[in-house]
Amino acid sequence: MTNKLKYFIGNWKMFGDLASFKIISKINTYISKNNYINKKKIVICVPNILINFFVKKLKKKSISIGAQNCHHHEASGPFTGSVNASMLKKVGSEYIILGHSENRKEGESPKLIEKKIESSLNQKLNVIYCIGETSHEKKRGKTYSIIRKQIKECIKKSFNKKRIMIAYEPIWCIGSNKIPNINELKYIIKYIKISYKKIFKTKNFPKVLYGGSVNGKNVKLLSNVNEIDGFLIGSASQSSKKFIDIIKNYYK
Ligand code: PGA
Repeated sequence: MTNKLKYFIGNWKMFGDLASFKIISKINTYISKNNYINKKKIVICVPNILINFFVKKLKKKSISIGAQNCHHHEASGPFTGSVNASMLKKVGSEYIILGHSENRKEGESPKLIEKKIESSLNQKLNVIYCIGETSHEKKRGKTYSIIRKQIKECIKKSFNKKRIMIAYEPIWCIGSNKIPNINELKYIIKYIKISYKKIFKTKNFPKVLYGGSVNGKNVKLLSNVNEIDGFLIGSASQSSKKFIDIIKNYYK
């Protein structure tokens, strides 16, 4: 159930401009010089306008660039302001974050997320599918049923599971400086892996990331949960130092 080399995936959200390449460049240099890190597992998901610029500017590419959402429609069409998975793939995106709670809050429905996952998989993008309960749901003891429902309703049995990762992001932990109780988190990550395997009858457990207020300090504590396959890192990924500190401290 455990993979030794972890994913560290940055989610820049609505942040960055052309000058932010210096952040990407510093992270890339650090990764290229340090062999204790698996180069295939370091990803920064940036705003669409920056994807191609960063991909082209990175000379010796030791990290991957990803996107943070897409339109559900696969072909081009009358969707003003939208970008689809095929367009993201063509400009160099290798990963995509889908189902993030910030987008669900804006009205993204499970059906829409399912379509987005499907079109991203068709484009051979690696999907980071976000799930997680609100604090209200947690208080009502609904954590397990919510995450099971979120897994079931957006992933079809026919999807290529090799390209799907789950990011468990309790909503009450995002941007709040809070992380779950470590023992509880261990149970939840195990629960996600076991139920996913059961629901889809897969041979292997899925890769499960943890996200929500991950920083250079709490990553040491989080490293006690062996079942976690990596981290989805929001605000701390907007600084090369903070992002690198998370990786360094994890393996320390
Ligand atoms: P955070 O965000 O690390 O800033 O809490 C995580 C996320 O929303 O993916």
